[in-house]
Amino acid sequence: MPVITTIDDLKQMHRRRAPKMFFDYCESGSWTEQTFRENTSDFDKLRLRQRIAVDMSDRTLRSTMIGQDVTMPVALAPVGMTGMQCADGEIKAARAARDFGVPYTLSTMSICSIEDVARATKAPFWFQLYVMRDAEFVDNIIRRAKHAGCDALVLTLDLQLLGQRHKDLRNGLSAPPKLTPRTVLNLATKWRWGLEMLQTKNRSFGNIVGHARSASDMSSLSSWTAEQFEPKLDWDMVARLKEKWGGRLILKGILDPEDAVRAADLGCDAIVVSNHGGRQLDGALSAIRMLPAIVAAVGDRVEVLMDSGIRSGQDILKARALGAHGVMIGRAYIYGLGAMGQAGVTKALQILYKEMDLTMALCGKRDVADVDRDILLIPKDFS
Ligand code: FNR
Repeated sequence: MPVITTIDDLKQMHRRRAPKMFFDYCESGSWTEQTFRENTSDFDKLRLRQRIAVDMSDRTLRSTMIGQDVTMPVALAPVGMTGMQCADGEIKAARAARDFGVPYTLSTMSICSIEDVARATKAPFWFQLYVMRDAEFVDNIIRRAKHAGCDALVLTLDLQLLGQRHKDLRNGLSAPPKLTPRTVLNLATKWRWGLEMLQTKNRSFGNIVGHARSASDMSSLSSWTAEQFEPKLDWDMVARLKEKWGGRLILKGILDPEDAVRAADLGCDAIVVSNHGGRQLDGALSAIRMLPAIVAAVGDRVEVLMDSGIRSGQDILKARALGAHGVMIGRAYIYGLGAMGQAGVTKALQILYKEMDLTMALCGKRDVADVDRDILLIPKDFS
């Protein structure tokens, strides 16, 4: 058993354990992957101030996210096809988040359905909505999320059209995988993954199949998305969906101060500054670079969360220092899930917690609520 001390350790295990098609789906960005790469490398440009002789005996990372108490200000981001990284992946990730005391977000494009996750966890979670052309499907899934007790709707606004992801196109990504000589060869080397998959009934998109009227052919994710997602999604539609949901609303995929102001005007509870982990508009700036301008534009009118590029507890503190109230993590927990199931997600959360706690202390802070720009050395060209 290898010693696991970093998120990167989990990533290497994930790479070894999961079929290539699904590891690549997780690890890729769109087009040249410039934005995907800069999401992480820009965090490295922010340096920390070492402080000394401060009483560090009593520290806390406890916080709130949209008014909910959390062990640390971190939520698990919605990740499509989580259940293909590991059998029943959504249930395992949701259980790990529940036990750790942080929110879990279930994607519209999940393998386990809303009802499966609610039944298995018996705890509230957030539900992420992609707006489909089929209005009846959208109404229905909002009703299902309410009925399951989801305590926030995360409405994703940066994926009306799917960014072109070359690895997925080359791999012929689908769930369940299509059996071609190449995929069969690859799956044969991933026997533990295969055995687990055979033992679960959850092998296709649980929220979609049998519910969306025209979800007949899921064999190619990219063409299916192009066919199903609502390209006309605009602010009026967002306002109507807000009314329809009637509960706490988080708008995800905001990367521009002007859009952030529109979101705040609409009266949502939080925004997520995000470029979808570098999977949509390649060439956009990293989320951490856009964060300060967005925080300046909205002030305290709306809670600002951020994601895209977080791979360590230090990254979380840096985001907090630049004005994010909390963060979402995507790949950081998916690596853990792909590596070792529920225990791997717990491990990822423990790693992030420990790194945050230690770094905060060495920067001279005892309470995450007190973390601000004071802990950073910010380069001049960092907006
Ligand atoms: C995502 N993301 C995403 N977002 C969303 O709103 N609905 C979804 O179904 C998905 N699916 C998805 C799949 C995979 C494999 C990844 C990596 C990401 C985006 C996700 O919620 C989040 O914004 C990013 O993952 C954040 O970037 P990091 O933390 O992965 O760098």
